[in-house]
Amino acid sequence: MKNKKITRKISQGMYVLTTEGGGCVVDAVIQASAGDNPIIAVAICKDNHTHQLLQKNSTFAISVLGKDADGEIIKQFGFNCSRDVDKFEGIETIEVKNTKVVKKSLGYIILEKVDSIDCGTHTLFLGKMIEGDILEDEEPMTYAEYQENKEDLLKITTEKGKTAWICTACGYIYYGDEVPDDFICPICKLGKSYFKEKED
Ligand SMILES: Cc1cc2nc3c(=O)[nH]c(=O)nc-3n(C[C@H](O)[C@H](O)[C@H](O)COP(=O)(O)O)c2cc1C
Repeated sequence: MKNKKITRKISQGMYVLTTEGGGCVVDAVIQASAGDNPIIAVAICKDNHTHQLLQKNSTFAISVLGKDADGEIIKQFGFNCSRDVDKFEGIETIEVKNTKVVKKSLGYIILEKVDSIDCGTHTLFLGKMIEGDILEDEEPMTYAEYQENKEDLLKITTEKGKTAWICTACGYIYYGDEVPDDFICPICKLGKSYFKEKED
């Protein structure tokens, strides 16, 4: 028995990773060490453009999203590719150490890339904290809260008269009578079993 859904019970937060040229929404973030310059690790899918950016850039930032996060920021960074759109357009940012961070967040951590580990589908990028600050002293949003509220948060509306299937991990909508067996969500790369038919 290998029920991978148990991995979704691992508590994670909601963050926006930014770096020169773009970035993306991430939940796979951990503080890997303590001390004056803690190491933060973030897992990035190799298919994401952010992966390419992180291979060449030496600095990146993590902005921490709060419970009242703006769904538009999640849509912009989590449902678009930096290859096609300017992720920073229409998003208020602050520039710290030549890196844009999200202004509507609880705060940011600026990281200098120190290592990366190949994890198969993802690469774990390790960054040493060189700067950081709290912008708003509120509660952070957890990934579980995002899952619970994403339809409202992202204002997911589906086209009338069409059968819609929502990816329960990220909110991507697939239209069709059935999700094909080999379908892979283009956003979070999960398979058919993660899709749930939208009820009216
Ligand atoms: C709630 C949520 C959590 C996500 N977590 C991650 C993550 O931890 N790592 C990752 O590589 N992608 C994650 N993604 C997917 C990327 O944000 C998404 O594929 C993005 O469009 C990639 O943009 P890019 O091609 O510009 O890099 C997440 C998306 C959402 C909506």
